[in-house]
Amino acid sequence: MGFFSVFLFLILCSFEKDIALAATSPEPHLLPHTTHTVEVNSLLPATTCTPSSTKGHTNNKASTLEVVHKHGPCSKFDKSSKTSTTKSDDKYHAQILKQDEARVNSIHSRLNYRIHDPFTQSAAATTLPAKSGLLLGSGNYLVTVGLGTPAKQLSLVFDTGSDLTWTQCRPCVRSCYTQSEPIFDPSLSASYKNLSCTSATCTQLSSAGIQQGCSSASSSCLYGIRYGDGSFSIGDFANEKFTLTSADVFEGFLFGCGQDNEGLFNGSAGLLGLGRNNISLVEQTARKYNRFFSYCLPSTSSSTGHLTFGNGGGSANGIKFTKLTTLSERASSFYGLGLTGISVGGRQVPVASSVFSSSGTIIDSGTVITRLPATAYAALRDAFREGMKNYTMTRPVSLLDTCYNFRGYKNVSYPGIAFGFGDGVTVDLDATGIFFVVSSSQACLAFAGNEDDSGFGIIGNVQQKRLEVVYDVAGGKVGFAPASCP
Ligand SMILES: *[C@@H]1O[C@H](CO)[C@@H](O)[C@H](O)[C@H]1NC(C)=O
Ligand SMILES: *[C@@H]1O[C@H](CO)[C@@H](O)[C@H](O)[C@H]1NC(C)=O
Ligand SMILES: *[C@@H]1O[C@H](CO)[C@@H](O)[C@H](O)[C@H]1NC(C)=O
Ligand SMILES: *[C@@H]1O[C@H](CO)[C@@H](O)[C@H](O)[C@H]1NC(C)=O
Ligand SMILES: *[C@@H]1O[C@H](CO)[C@@H](O)[C@H](O)[C@H]1NC(C)=O
Repeated sequence: MGFFSVFLFLILCSFEKDIALAATSPEPHLLPHTTHTVEVNSLLPATTCTPSSTKGHTNNKASTLEVVHKHGPCSKFDKSSKTSTTKSDDKYHAQILKQDEARVNSIHSRLNYRIHDPFTQSAAATTLPAKSGLLLGSGNYLVTVGLGTPAKQLSLVFDTGSDLTWTQCRPCVRSCYTQSEPIFDPSLSASYKNLSCTSATCTQLSSAGIQQGCSSASSSCLYGIRYGDGSFSIGDFANEKFTLTSADVFEGFLFGCGQDNEGLFNGSAGLLGLGRNNISLVEQTARKYNRFFSYCLPSTSSSTGHLTFGNGGGSANGIKFTKLTTLSERASSFYGLGLTGISVGGRQVPVASSVFSSSGTIIDSGTVITRLPATAYAALRDAFREGMKNYTMTRPVSLLDTCYNFRGYKNVSYPGIAFGFGDGVTVDLDATGIFFVVSSSQACLAFAGNEDDSGFGIIGNVQQKRLEVVYDVAGGKVGFAPASCP
């Protein structure tokens, strides 16, 4: 069946090409493409923050938090402007891409069953059983939530690719990195409780792929999580009052109170886990929100988006739902989608849908650049370059090999890119969801290929920009609607 459909596909492709060629011109690069136009300036962040109108609010069914990019004028962690083209700007973008590589490697290794022991180099290893090091890493979008009694405000990176919510905790027994808000101090909270290491909840950690241990002093439950880029958090697995918005407060929320935190989380107070395992925020609040949440990631770091829990009813205009899948039992934390094709400039890129379906695809808020099976990426890149012939290519950045110099242009025309899903749903990407913009002189196609066709694809956060992405986990579907935030 696989061979036959590929064969048929190739025949159909070449047939279609012949017709198109005959009808237009003998030169394939003159085939008509539908193009879109975007102002170059709209791809770049402004120096001041323009918050969107969807500030945090609650109606009786849903609660909304404001989403900001970790770096840029809307973040309280980053007062230096990242909008000028400087050397350090290059370094900053290169670092984002390097971390992204590490995250993707760790996700792939997690699902490829290659188990490492992440704690062998850590002094804290003595208190934690050396088991699988299941690692998932940082994202770039932050929301602010409240923890404890009285509630303390903490800005956390939200991550659909991991489950455990954690924050740095005093007294920072081993280490805390610099964060801008005061570090959470459980001794000042009336509602903080350690979990016993014999509790069933403590054993749940290992089913979420998180290391679990026991404090010899207090017999309380310890967790340890190490991310792909080498960062980690180790501490007490605890219960606390969690304030999503002033109207939505959860008692006994399970979270990690990190006493040894190191790595690249700089600035944010920790991580908000929105994965599918039962210790994630989505599962812990299932009774209230019925596993329904949505977000919109802003186009640039000078605008804001939102993260909403619960189905507020008024679902976004033009929303299209596709089936939510699970790649494997091992990958049950991840949100799988049935990606089957990609179009560039309104034309399907010539890749058999079996290339996508045999490896599978997940959607992740923490991965920056979309990863595709090698064959699919090569075809996408070729089609995109064809549609961008009018522009001068420039040097690559890290894993991005298709970059353009837009300096001197007010507007640029580009071939639109759309994802196609098995159930007939197509999702058009926003212009800001196509380019990773280092500066006006270096805007790169924000896709990369996996080493081969065996690893699964990941729909990253650049591609999700400005879309309302709706996770109806109970309904088994994920929806997309266009232009839902600035
Ligand atoms: C540039 O694009 C904007 C809309 O994106 C349009 O209003 C404007 O006319 C365009 N300018 C040129 C010179 O094409
Ligand atoms: C929680 O457990 C840690 C040891 O892991 C201990 O130092 C701390 O005092 C405990 N906190 C409470 C409130 O029991
Ligand atoms: C973390 O932030 C501090 C203070 O803002 C800064 O000095 C340090 O270089 C940062 N570290 C990393 C790894 O970004
Ligand atoms: C969470 O999942 C684990 C393993 O699948 C299971 O043993 C545990 O009972 C679950 N916990 C809850 C609260 O559903
Ligand atoms: C390239 O530029 C030419 C001349 O300005 C224009 O006619 C053509 O439509 C452009 N092609 C694309 C793909 O933008």
